[in-house]
Amino acid sequence: MNTKKTGIPRLLEIAGEKRGLLIGSSILSGISAILMLLPYIAVYFTMAELLKNASNLIKADGEYMMRWGIIALTGLIGGVVFMYASGIMSHKAAYRIQYNLRVRLSDHIGKLPLGYLSNTSTGIIKKTFEQNVEKIEAFVAHQLPDMINVFVTGIAIILIMLTLNPLLTIAAMIPSALGFWIQMKKRSGKAAQESAKSYYDALEKISTSTTQYVRGIPVVKVFGRTVHSFRKFYSDMISYRDYCVKYTDYFQNTYIAAKVLLNSTLIMILPVGILILTKQGADLSLTQTILFFIILAPAMASPMSRFMGFASTLGDISEGVVRIDSIFGQKPIEESKEAKTPYSYDIEFNNVSFSYNAEDVSTRTEALSGISFRAKQGSLTALVGPSGSGKSTVANLIPRFWDIQQGKICIGGVDIRDIATHDLMNLVSFVFQDTFLFHDTVFENIRLGRTSATKEEVYAAAKAAQCHKFIEVLENGYETIVGQGGTHLSGGEEQRICVARAILKNSPILVLDEATAFADPENEYHMQLALRELIKNKTVIMIAHRLSTIQDADQIIVMQDGKIKEQGDHNILINKDGLYKKLWDAYTTASNWGLGKGGELA
Ligand SMILES: Nc1ncnc2c1ncn2[C@@H]1O[C@H](COP(=O)(O)OP(=O)(O)OP(=O)(O)O)[C@@H](O)[C@H]1O
Ligand SMILES: [Mg+2]
Repeated sequence: MNTKKTGIPRLLEIAGEKRGLLIGSSILSGISAILMLLPYIAVYFTMAELLKNASNLIKADGEYMMRWGIIALTGLIGGVVFMYASGIMSHKAAYRIQYNLRVRLSDHIGKLPLGYLSNTSTGIIKKTFEQNVEKIEAFVAHQLPDMINVFVTGIAIILIMLTLNPLLTIAAMIPSALGFWIQMKKRSGKAAQESAKSYYDALEKISTSTTQYVRGIPVVKVFGRTVHSFRKFYSDMISYRDYCVKYTDYFQNTYIAAKVLLNSTLIMILPVGILILTKQGADLSLTQTILFFIILAPAMASPMSRFMGFASTLGDISEGVVRIDSIFGQKPIEESKEAKTPYSYDIEFNNVSFSYNAEDVSTRTEALSGISFRAKQGSLTALVGPSGSGKSTVANLIPRFWDIQQGKICIGGVDIRDIATHDLMNLVSFVFQDTFLFHDTVFENIRLGRTSATKEEVYAAAKAAQCHKFIEVLENGYETIVGQGGTHLSGGEEQRICVARAILKNSPILVLDEATAFADPENEYHMQLALRELIKNKTVIMIAHRLSTIQDADQIIVMQDGKIKEQGDHNILINKDGLYKKLWDAYTTASNWGLGKGGELA
């Protein structure tokens, strides 16, 4: 995609597919502007007729004036009708553009590596998605036809004035031109662009920290704090306020000056008009022109000041387009040109090294280095190790949430970078510690695993995942709405629904990251049963802090500081008297301490 263009040209490029509607709307809006000027023309000719018969008004041609009256009225009505039609077209275009833009953005975000999403705050993405796109919609629907209207009106008024009297025209234009110039200069300067940028930055920050603040309210409450102690939120609010005040201060003087000048057209017309009149002597047609100028010139003020308003809108739009493009500019996961399909499901890490911030050489630290292991098809591999040792990182690399910088990860002998993303996603299921349920029915939340599944299949998966019983006693059974704002489920119950989802998906590879973390014994027992069902005949990578759950694993990989420290099954590792033994001893002691007996449940 060509992302070199900026501002309105880039906006029109984004709007490309709706160009026809936009041109149509602009033409109608231009016609409306011309029609709206007909009343002024009518005034001119009616006034001429009256002035001609000023000594005896009875003589004025009533019918002639009536005709102009009808023309004026027709112009007004026609102007409104055309404006309306133009509005319909521009709104149609705007909503389609908005819709397409959001679809394209979601589509693009869907293709980005998960790393981008977890490193970019949701506040920023949300703001771009909602406000920036909305502003473009407002601009296309309202400001674009308005701009054409104002532009045509302005040009037409100037042309009419020029044909009548160039000198008076210049006199009429001087104050507005001056007002316009100082305002534009102030608004289009570098400082103004920077202030638009800092305005958006402040807005983005406040959007991000509001989200965090709302999420963090439980913490704030538990520790008995007030909003002042949530320092980031507070300081973002203050900086937003300060910015707004600074922004207003920055523009206020020029704004007031420009407004006054724009509305001062008569200041020059009257003296210049009188000067011309005294020089040329009383002339009926000149008097008529001056009178007409006095009526018409103030009509310039409105388009001019609206035009001024556009300057700030344009700044806004340019900034919005930049932010939208910054998302479009993110590179999606590279798809191999010759996608290959694996026919077996061994997972192999071959000398894999990875760092989260590979681009930034100064802060680069390797989260994983020189990782090699093989997880045989149908076997269970457990990853254990202290916190921060890189277990989740290993897990996240398998479905390509991030791409590695060195080495190779293969499934069934095929490099995962050569497998089409869609196929890779079908091959791998994930159950995380943080489960996520959509605000939808339990049934649909499970069926997400395979949208083509029948009711019986969904029920069977729920039974296998030990969810069926608790779902049945929910208020509306499988039709109960869960997720944020829905019926509350316990952490363990939510997790088992996610397991049911994974069972339904039935993919050959399964990655479980702390899936048994919800600790109460009842839950743990059910979770073990659910998992036992889920992992049958699959290649499983399982991360668990509770070492009892992985005791029977085919192989256990012990990690420390991003490296593999030990490898083998439970018995081998226990006899080695190394890190695993230490972890095991610590674990059993803690369990004994916690439960007062063996620590084993099932
Ligand atoms: N998104 C990220 N961006 C940058 N660094 C990260 C990111 N996620 C993890 N890390 C770093 O990578 C290292 C390994 O983290 P990882 O989450 O894989 O550890 P873990 O073994 O899963 O720990 P835990 O047992 O606490 O879940 C840590 O030093 C961590 O700070
Ligand atoms: Mg982890």
